[in-house]
Amino acid sequence: TDPAVIRNFCIIAHIDHGKSTLADRMLQLTEVVDKRQMREQYLDRMDIERERGITIKSQAVRMPWEAEGTPYILNMIDTPGHVDFTYEVSRSLAACEGCVLLVDAAQGIEAQTLANLYLAMENDLTIVPVLNKIDLPAAQPEKFAAELAHLIGCEPEDVLRVSAKTGEGVPGLLDQVVKLVPPPVGNPDAPARAMIFDSVYDAYRGVVTYVKVVDGRLGRRERIQMMSTGATHELLEIGTNSPEMSAADGLAVGEVGYLITGVKDVRQSRVGDTVTTQHRGATEALGGYKDPKPMVFSGLYPLDGSQYPDLREALDKLQLNDAALVYEPETSAALGFGFRVGFLGLLHLEVIRERLEREFGLSLIATAPNVVYRVIMEDHSEHVVTNPSEFPVGKIAEVHEPVVRATLIAPSEYVGAIMELCQSRRGAMRGMDYLSEERVELRYTLPLAEIVFDFFDALKSKTRGYASLDYEPTGEQTADLVKVDILLHGDKVDAFSAIVHKDKAYAYGVKMAAKLKELIPRQQFEVPIQAAVGARVIARETVRAMRKDVLSKCYGGDISRKRKLLEKQKEGKKRMKMVGRVEVPQEAFIAALSSD
Ligand code: GTP
Repeated sequence: TDPAVIRNFCIIAHIDHGKSTLADRMLQLTEVVDKRQMREQYLDRMDIERERGITIKSQAVRMPWEAEGTPYILNMIDTPGHVDFTYEVSRSLAACEGCVLLVDAAQGIEAQTLANLYLAMENDLTIVPVLNKIDLPAAQPEKFAAELAHLIGCEPEDVLRVSAKTGEGVPGLLDQVVKLVPPPVGNPDAPARAMIFDSVYDAYRGVVTYVKVVDGRLGRRERIQMMSTGATHELLEIGTNSPEMSAADGLAVGEVGYLITGVKDVRQSRVGDTVTTQHRGATEALGGYKDPKPMVFSGLYPLDGSQYPDLREALDKLQLNDAALVYEPETSAALGFGFRVGFLGLLHLEVIRERLEREFGLSLIATAPNVVYRVIMEDHSEHVVTNPSEFPVGKIAEVHEPVVRATLIAPSEYVGAIMELCQSRRGAMRGMDYLSEERVELRYTLPLAEIVFDFFDALKSKTRGYASLDYEPTGEQTADLVKVDILLHGDKVDAFSAIVHKDKAYAYGVKMAAKLKELIPRQQFEVPIQAAVGARVIARETVRAMRKDVLSKCYGGDISRKRKLLEKQKEGKKRMKMVGRVEVPQEAFIAALSSD
C-alpha cells in the first residue's frame, strides 16, 4: 500500500468517556464488522476487561474508508487505558501519527485525558479533539469545547462533537482523521525496521506480535531478528487484522499488522523492541525500548499448601502473555510456600490475582503490596529489597524509594482536601493550574509507596468521587524509612514486616498490634504482641492466657467481628499455623493483611 493513503491513529480518553464504544461504531461504519457479529466492545476480549469495562491489552484494526473519492486505509490502534500500563500506551502512541482525544461532553477533561495527551504530545502526534456523548441531556458541549480548545490551543469550533452511542458525527470524525492526521513517512529502500507495540500469547498460534513497519519491508517466510536480544526467528505468518487476522505477503512502510514466529513466550517478543531482517538487517534500533520494570511486589500464597504446584503452573502460564510479570519462590514462616510476585502497579496486581483465582481456581493469600527499595550501607554495599522482611540490618547510610509524578483533577472546592491528603502522604507539590473557573489540575511528586495503598480510595472519599488521578514513575528519592517488625511471643511474623516512614512507624505498630490482639485466640499461656524497630519495641499488646472453663466461649469470640471475612474463607477455617509456640488460625493472617 502507498503510505500516502495510510492513516495510523489511536483514541485516547479517560476511563468511561466512551473509547470502546466509539471504536465499535467505527468498526461498524467501515463495515469490517457487520451488525450481526457486532457485540458490545468488540475489541475488549478478556473477561475481566469486559466486566470492569477496562482495556488492558491493545490491539490494532485495519479499516477501509473512502474520503472524497479516494480509498484510504485507517489503522486504529487501541491503547490500554490504565496508569499501570503507561509504557505500553507510549509504544502504541509511537506507532501512530495522530490521535483522537476523546472527552465526555458531560464530564470534561480528567486526569487520564491529560496524562495521555502529554504522552501524545511527546510523540509529536496530531491531535483531533472530540467531544463524545452529545446525546446526553447533561452534555455541555459549549463549555467543554472551550476547555478543550484552551488546553490544546485550537479554536472551540475545531472540536468535533459526536455520539458514539447513536453514531452521530462519527463519519465526519473519520473524514477529519484522514484530513488532519499526516500519512506515515519512512524509507522503503532502507533495511527493514518495525516497532513492536503489542505482543499477545494465543493458545493455538503462539505469540502474535503487533508491529508498525517504519522502514523497508517485512515479507512472508523471512528470517527476522529482534534487535534488543539478537534472537532470530522465521516468520511463519504476516498479515493484518480487520479485525480478525488475515494473512498477507508482507508489510511495507507505514503499515500496521501482526507477525507470527511460533515462539511461545511474549518475553521473546517485547513491546518497544525493533524487528529487522536477519540478512542485511538494520544496525540501529528505533528508539524507546525499555525493559518492563515491576514497581510493586506482593507475596502470593495458596490458602491450601497443596495448591503450591498449581500456583506455580498458573504463574508460568500467565507469564507467557505478560512480559512484565516476574516471580520467584519464597517461604514465609507464617504463610508457608508461595511466591514473591512483581507487578507494574496495583491494577496489574489485582488483575493477576483475580485471574489466578478465577481462571485457575486457586485460593490465595496476598501480603500487603510494597514497592522496591534500594538500601545503601555505610560500607557502600547495596541491597535491592523487594520483600520488607529482607530489609538489611546493620549500618544503613541511605534508603531510596521510588516516586511518581501525579496529576490530579478536581472541582476547585476540593483543592484544600486534596492538598491535605497529598501532604499526609509525603507529597511535594509541583504546580497547580485552573482548567476553567471550577476545575483545577494539581501536580505532585509522591512516594509510590504512599499511593499503592488505598490512596485512590481516600481521594475518592475526600472529593465525593469527583477527583481523578493519574501518575507515572519518575525516579527515586532518599527518605527516612525504617522496618517495623511484628513479634508474637518474641518471634517475628515475617508477613507483617513493613517498611514505613520513621514518623509513621509508631502508628503502624500500634495499629497492627491492636488488630492482632483481636484476631489471635487465647492460648495456654500469655502471648505478648510487639511491634519493634530493630531491637526497640514501639508498641505492645497482650493476649491473656485462657482459663480452661471458658475455652469454648473464648475461642472464636474474639474474631467474630471478622465474621464476614471468615465466611468467605470457610474452607481454611480449621487451618492453624504455628508461629514459634503460638497457634494462629490462618484466617487471622488473612484478616490482618486485609486493608480495613
Ligand atoms: P474503557 O474502555 O473502560 O477505558 O472505557 P471507555 O472509554 O471505552 O468507555 P466505554 O466505551 O466503555 O463507555 C463507557 C460508558 O459510556 C458505557 O456505558 C457506554 O455505553 C457509554 N457511552 C459511550 N459513548 C456514549 C455516547 O455517545 N452517549 C451515551 N449516552 N453514552 C455513551
